[in-house]
Amino acid sequence: MGAVITGWGKCVPPAVLGNDVLETFMDTSDEWVATRTGIRERRISHVGMVELSTVAAARALAAAGVAEDDFDCLILATASADLHIPNAASRVQLALGNRGAAALDTNVGCCGFVYGLAMANGLIESGVHSRVVVIGAERLTTILDWTQRDSAILFGDGAGAVVVEAGSSGAGVLGAFLACDPVPGESLMVADLGNTPAHQRRSSPYNLSFDGREVFRHAVPGMVKASHQALARSGLSIADIDLLVPHQANLRIVEAVGKKLPIDSAKVFTNLQRYGNTSAASIPLALTEALEAGRVAPGDRLLFTAFGAGLTSAAAVVRWGERTERVADSGRELHPCTLSAMELVAPALKFQRQWHQNGQ
Ligand code: UT7
Repeated sequence: MGAVITGWGKCVPPAVLGNDVLETFMDTSDEWVATRTGIRERRISHVGMVELSTVAAARALAAAGVAEDDFDCLILATASADLHIPNAASRVQLALGNRGAAALDTNVGCCGFVYGLAMANGLIESGVHSRVVVIGAERLTTILDWTQRDSAILFGDGAGAVVVEAGSSGAGVLGAFLACDPVPGESLMVADLGNTPAHQRRSSPYNLSFDGREVFRHAVPGMVKASHQALARSGLSIADIDLLVPHQANLRIVEAVGKKLPIDSAKVFTNLQRYGNTSAASIPLALTEALEAGRVAPGDRLLFTAFGAGLTSAAAVVRWGERTERVADSGRELHPCTLSAMELVAPALKFQRQWHQNGQ
């Protein structure tokens, strides 16, 4: 029994923050950001990540041709949940009108979607569930410090989702590899959130500890190793892959991974130029856009590979099924947005500038 992706969908908030706007309040330039990362713009959400997730999932369920409430497990991969008790997955489940399905959050940073897909595969193969919704969703811009140019330029908001169903056509997840090396974990860490009482916090709530060079150093070998392991478990080689959909962190990382695998650059899908790094959302968002662009054909073999906070690394090989068109479209939309991206960012920026001016 295979675990086949039968539906896919994305939800990106409408407010666009371009590098040209970043230049107006940060010591950076479009040229630096575009050259070092490939990123030109990112989205800033006016709604919580539960709403982003709900719309992406509803669109994926419509694409699969099933009702919004017709699933028996929902996995929500995120590092920026709107709430922790109960988990955000249960709020998405509620919004979709489902009662009774299993619902869980999984936080493995940017590897969240690949971990979620591998978990869905195991749950389906073992007969525990038969239709699993896997969502990758983030609203990381709410925890960014907009005075920190090394990290604030990188991330954006969005969500992507797939529906994974039991099938016997030979399509499905052919192999996966999941790992975490906690030793360099502090190179990408947000401390003092979660259970730390407010009066005991050592820092601002925007305390992203980030060593981009260190993460970069681990990212390329981590993604390459995970890819080779997943390929070996699939009984395939890199030459068998029709499309690589990598985690969209940085174009230089994607290109280095492509060279080392190696895979022809024409077989690598990127959209980070328009969304920045959307962490757990990046692969399902890119997969959905690859399908919309006609880059996936029936029976294609796809490779997903990612790295992220932890530091985690992960890869999965998927054989696509027969259908590359949506069965139906969803009528779900986000609440309308009346603010510009800059207006959405401005209150946090003001608070953060004051925080730093006060020497905190
Ligand atoms: O998905 C998981 C999360 N993603 C990541 O962690 C991303 C991994 N890392 C990266 O993508 C890259 O390391 C970055 C894009 C974050 C940084 O690129 P880099 O080529 O490693 O730059 P760098 O950190 O070595 O900095 C080079 C210079 C420094 O100045 P000096 O010390 O050479 O004078 C920085 O201060 O660039 C400076 N710099 C900037 N300049 C203009 C850093 N950020 C900026 C900026 N604008 N936004």
